[in-house]
Amino acid sequence: MSNSTSSDSWGSRVGLILAMAGNAVGLGNFLRFPVQAVNNGGGAFIIPYLVCFLLMGIPLLWIEWSSGRFGGKSGHHSTPFVLDSMDKRQFWKYIGVFGIFTNVAVAAYYCYIESWTMAYVYHSISGTFSGLNQGQVADFFTRYIDVSHSTTGIPYEAVIFYVFCLALNTFILSRGLHGVERAAKIGMPLLILFGIVLAIRGLTLGDSGATPEHPDANAFEGLNFLWTPQFDSLTNPKVWLAAAGQIFFTLSVGMGTVQCYASYVRSRDDIALNAVSAGFMNEFVEVVLGSLIVIPIAAGYLGVDWLKENAGFGMAFQTMPYLFQQWGPALSVFAGVMWFGLLFFAGITSSLAMGTPWMGFMRDEFGFSRNKGAWTFGAVVLALGLPTVFFYQQGVFDEYDYWAGTVSLVVFALAETILFAWIFGMDKGWKEINEGGDIKVPLIYKYIIKWVTPLLLLFVFVGSLVTPKNNDWVNALNNGWELDNSSIIKQITNTGLKEQITAATDPAIITALEDKMFYVSLARFILLALFIGLSFLVYLAYKRRKAEGRIT
Ligand code: PHE
Repeated sequence: MSNSTSSDSWGSRVGLILAMAGNAVGLGNFLRFPVQAVNNGGGAFIIPYLVCFLLMGIPLLWIEWSSGRFGGKSGHHSTPFVLDSMDKRQFWKYIGVFGIFTNVAVAAYYCYIESWTMAYVYHSISGTFSGLNQGQVADFFTRYIDVSHSTTGIPYEAVIFYVFCLALNTFILSRGLHGVERAAKIGMPLLILFGIVLAIRGLTLGDSGATPEHPDANAFEGLNFLWTPQFDSLTNPKVWLAAAGQIFFTLSVGMGTVQCYASYVRSRDDIALNAVSAGFMNEFVEVVLGSLIVIPIAAGYLGVDWLKENAGFGMAFQTMPYLFQQWGPALSVFAGVMWFGLLFFAGITSSLAMGTPWMGFMRDEFGFSRNKGAWTFGAVVLALGLPTVFFYQQGVFDEYDYWAGTVSLVVFALAETILFAWIFGMDKGWKEINEGGDIKVPLIYKYIIKWVTPLLLLFVFVGSLVTPKNNDWVNALNNGWELDNSSIIKQITNTGLKEQITAATDPAIITALEDKMFYVSLARFILLALFIGLSFLVYLAYKRRKAEGRIT
């Protein structure tokens, strides 16, 4: 353990909590949550979501915070050697590769969305959207991501913003934990301020946005749709899987960043209370602010039915700037800056977190300076990210999001929970969680972490692996299990895409689909190469440790 690594730690408790909350609060809270909620039946989604938060999210936060602090005591700041320090078996450090892999791969496409938010702040100020109708605002986005086009005369605008966004991330990362903490201290309060202003608008819009074209538009209907609980959804596994997926993504658990941040917590400092504080702060931003902006504003102008049909990722970029135009020329600029500014702050405090496991690992194992760690991270992310920028429409982005941003979180969370609760052992684990704690964690969580969380994770994993046809579980249980094309197994074999190719008759469509198949394979190849490359680095690090007699 070198001195430079051990001397790194958070400046203050407020800084730590804001950085951890900034890590969790991200684009997922404002872009992913509303879409997931609407697509899974609004009120039907909320109960499974909250149950997953309490039985899976909070336990995973405690597991990750305490393993992180535990690993940090012996100078480990990324999951390969954090996990390695918890059991003597050799393979755990390769499972730990997930905790670097996920971050590098997610950063590649996440920073792309983050760069859109920068571009949209710019275009809101420069008045690009003023006077455009709904279709034209939507088209702007379509042309923006089509990098062969130019929206404003600048060629490859999307690429320029992307590279700029990565450079900014890299620069802040090169300042170390200090930079991350500073960004969170500036970004989080502004984000909450902007969020509250927009949420007040969402709450007060009522039916004032109704037009002859959308006579039924009413913001409250959007809120009712989301907040009327429907208990029958409790028996629908599809909703549970979606809720669990959202909890993972939004809390940044199963990713490796929480362990990394926590490894810089001093060994006697509290984690029991810090973990729940950061977790609840994320839930406030997600459940309160995240649901009070896009949903009521879209329902307030376009109606709930429009919302249900059009809920998607594009809403934030394709629809919001148009709706802001309804507030007059000055306010619309203001609203655009607040909305995209909020998204930008949410995004950057998360993408910075994604850089830290790589930097921690390279520093611990190969003596990289902060600068070298940050710039190598930027370079790797750029190499992985450019394919998502250039081949966004061919599905490279979605492929990254599926494997690195969805599947790998579940796999890693399951593995680390088993390690923590069953191998490291719940008695030791419980002590780690409570050590230095400013609250006493309710004893029931000892049993939840040991039994409920792993079983729930197992269900989520198996359920995603073998999702039954049309997500109809009852039918599958009674009439034989046929796999849905969305199941992991059918995704691996590209069954859905192959079926589309067989069914297509138009040669142009067939060519487009075959192209897509190529890019999907390319994306997987890149991800696999990344995983293997990182595993090799872990192997080299292990060899070095052995040679230097640092293996305990
Ligand atoms: N939790 C972040 C969000 O909600 C995403 C994230 C993923 C952050 C991975 C850090 C690491 O957008």
